[in-house]
Amino acid sequence: MKITVLNGSPRKQNTDALVAAFVEGAEAAGHEVEVLKVGKMNIAGCKACEYCHGKGEGACIQKDDMEQVIPAYKDADVVVFASPIYYFTMSAQIEAAIQRVYCIGKPPKAQKAALLLSSGSQGVYDGAIGQYKSMVGYMGLEDAGIVTAAGDENGTPEKLAEVRELASKL
Ligand SMILES: Cc1cc2nc3c(=O)[nH]c(=O)nc-3n(C[C@H](O)[C@H](O)[C@H](O)COP(=O)(O)O)c2cc1C
Repeated sequence: MKITVLNGSPRKQNTDALVAAFVEGAEAAGHEVEVLKVGKMNIAGCKACEYCHGKGEGACIQKDDMEQVIPAYKDADVVVFASPIYYFTMSAQIEAAIQRVYCIGKPPKAQKAALLLSSGSQGVYDGAIGQYKSMVGYMGLEDAGIVTAAGDENGTPEKLAEVRELASKL
């Protein structure tokens, strides 16, 4: 399967470790994985101009790094959302990438999704997980699994093994 991972972290630390473990597990199981580090990309918020649903015929009027993300979304059998928790939700960078999918509606081929979250504290995931569950329901995707890593759990062999396991079972 073709797996597209949106990594919403702007830096190379805890979320990247989860993503690396995911890639390892998925590739070992024979999947093709594309990681898009949307956390470091130049992606503006949706302008709600509706150009995409009119003259644009599915194309966004804004020309930025979403031009890399949209083809990967269109191609994906599995979409993975990976992000640090910022103020009880995913990063602004990944939220912008999620909301800009408005131009194509839903990922056309995708069957499954997964969620990887990193945070400083325990008990901060309700917002992000609630959004993810609503989103996969709306997009008609099967939830393949959620892994969270809070505080000291980040980077532990146990946590990374949990992510590899999720990836290998897709
Ligand atoms: C702007 C900002 C907001 C944050 N908000 C939260 C929060 O609400 N709850 C929490 O537990 N951690 C919060 N954190 C901590 C990060 O979620 C945590 O350090 C995470 O592991 C960072 O992942 P990264 O290494 O991929 O950047 C915040 C960090 C930043 C920079």
